[in-house]
Amino acid sequence: MKDLYKTADWKAEKHVPVIDAPEKAAKDAPVEVSVTVGKEIAHPNTTGHFIAWIELYFHADGEPNPHFLGRYTFDAHGASGEGPDTSTIYAEPKVTVAFKTGKPGTLHAASYCNIHGLWASEAKLAVE
Ligand code: FE2
Repeated sequence: MKDLYKTADWKAEKHVPVIDAPEKAAKDAPVEVSVTVGKEIAHPNTTGHFIAWIELYFHADGEPNPHFLGRYTFDAHGASGEGPDTSTIYAEPKVTVAFKTGKPGTLHAASYCNIHGLWASEAKLAVE
């Protein structure tokens, strides 16, 4: 499965989940992390081509397994309803979450494009 996850420079590849987190978090205080797909180059967001979800994990240094922080699904892709509602919504592939940790570690993000598959990135998080 790990071979299915692609990585690249997020400034040149629109599918890479970009993690925005502080370099240092205060110990056991909420740290806010945002993950965006298409931060530098916008990813298409149409009914036929979209980012379906982002997952975020935190792997504390020295621990055997990562913690799963969540899966954030984007379910509105412009499909029109019938009847009087003529609005059309496209969910943007961006999420902001907060969590607490007492240990430093690595954030791992994954994203899924319905046409171009699985993408991943990581970012270090220090704790003071
Ligand atoms: Fe795509």
